[in-house]
Amino acid sequence: MDPHPRRRFLICCLSSPGAARAALDCVFGVTMQRTTGIVLAAGQGARMKSAVPKVMHPVSGLPIVHHGVQAALDAGCCDVVVVVGQGRTIVEEYLARAFAGRPVRTAIQEHPRGTGDAARAGLGTIGKEALEVLVMNGDVPLVRGEHLRAVIQPLLGTDPPALSLATCLVDDPAGYGRVLRKGGKVVEIREDRDLRGDEERGVREINAGIYVANIALLREALDALTPENAQGELYITDIVAFSSNAGEHVVAVELPAEVLAGINDREQLAQVERTMYARIARRWRVEGATVREGARIDAGVVLEEDCTVESGAVLRGTTRIERGAMVDVGCVLTDVVVGAGAVVKPYSVATGSRIGPRAHVGPFAHLRPGSDLGEEAHVGNFVEAKKTTMGRRAKANHLAYLGDGVIGDDANIGAGTIFCNYDGFQKHTTTIEAGAFIGSDSQLVAPVTVGANAYVATGTTVTRDVPPDALAISRMKQENKEGYASKLRARMKASKAQKGK
Ligand code: UD1
Ligand code: CA
Repeated sequence: MDPHPRRRFLICCLSSPGAARAALDCVFGVTMQRTTGIVLAAGQGARMKSAVPKVMHPVSGLPIVHHGVQAALDAGCCDVVVVVGQGRTIVEEYLARAFAGRPVRTAIQEHPRGTGDAARAGLGTIGKEALEVLVMNGDVPLVRGEHLRAVIQPLLGTDPPALSLATCLVDDPAGYGRVLRKGGKVVEIREDRDLRGDEERGVREINAGIYVANIALLREALDALTPENAQGELYITDIVAFSSNAGEHVVAVELPAEVLAGINDREQLAQVERTMYARIARRWRVEGATVREGARIDAGVVLEEDCTVESGAVLRGTTRIERGAMVDVGCVLTDVVVGAGAVVKPYSVATGSRIGPRAHVGPFAHLRPGSDLGEEAHVGNFVEAKKTTMGRRAKANHLAYLGDGVIGDDANIGAGTIFCNYDGFQKHTTTIEAGAFIGSDSQLVAPVTVGANAYVATGTTVTRDVPPDALAISRMKQENKEGYASKLRARMKASKAQKGK
């Protein structure tokens, strides 16, 4: 079976894209979208003053470029080409990982000769099946799929324009390209540095850096670019004058000004991130989660109904807070699942772990990667767990190190217990079977197993397996010397007086 019947159909119709679309509309009963996205991400980003490419700086936990690529996919692009340049290896590796299995690939712009040159590099890799091409700056992470769709839409109608572009009305247009109109029609975009006179400078309608064009027109327009401007670069913005001069209809779609905020330096990065975090918090509140002011929730996090995230909590990566769970003040959770009704008390830190339903963690607990707490398990203050599973209702309430452990249901780990998991060369497992009791200040020298319902007396160093139901005890017998304390004190006092002389 042909996995791409639609593509084959399209190739047959390519002699006329308009005819192709009309035929497809007729066959599928809906408007078929055959838009390819080009995300421009090869700029140097000099103003960031960073060894890391600008587009790899995170905004709400995801690289700047991730947001643009995701928006293009959300807008319905069936193919997304990211133009990369300096430091491209890290961008390429990231995209391959983050968008594995999605139609995202890269094109290379060898030297940053301007946005028009970058668009050319992207277009050079696009096959003939694309009907229209979306080109967008890769440094505007607040733009969402719905915004891009609004700019694409005019080209999907009957009698489409050759070019549609996004504009914004701003109070302070400094630094942006101005949209110049004649008789109401968009005729040109002039870059800030190339403006001629105060009238142009005062134009508040600016270019948002998002363009959708018919592919044939785009090819022609990009071929015609010349670097005759203040920066000596090839500007993609010149495709507007090209289209207008060719008598083509150019449509401007106005987007809300706040979505266009681009990132050129770290102050702008901070501003955009602030907006992004506010947007994420708002979204989850609408979905029924309580998100207190000052909580920081990254873009990949999921909150279920009736959970609460307190101020100062930082939720990162793929963290998921299930129904009714509570994450208290100051917790930092990275790639953690918090089960329904669980409570994570203040200032706990967890990474790559699962906290079971109705479990209690913290305050001041530390769950390192691979920890998995069962239903209603308790991990209390100053407990560190690493790659340790705990069964249902198992408890370690105070001051313990639980490394590489397997702890059964209802087991109780006393204060000060240490799993001695490392011999300087290898890590070993400590197994505590169901219902076992580990007295305070015990050390378990792994590999070692404490059997079900066994009892380890306080202060014991367990070096051999403890059979089920056994008592293990290893400590010096206690001796009491009657009346000895005052004698001891007198001796010590004398010794101190002697030294003072
Ligand atoms: C650009 C627009 C400007 C618009 C503004 C909106 C041009 C000439 N100007 O200006 O009209 O108001 O965006 O934010 O397009 N890039 C490359 N290769 C290059 C140069 C840039 O890939 O050689 C990429 C950058 O990585 C960036 C994007 O293109 O993601 C925009 O480049 P940038 O230099 O930031 O353009 P602006 O000065 O912001
Ligand atoms: Ca920019």
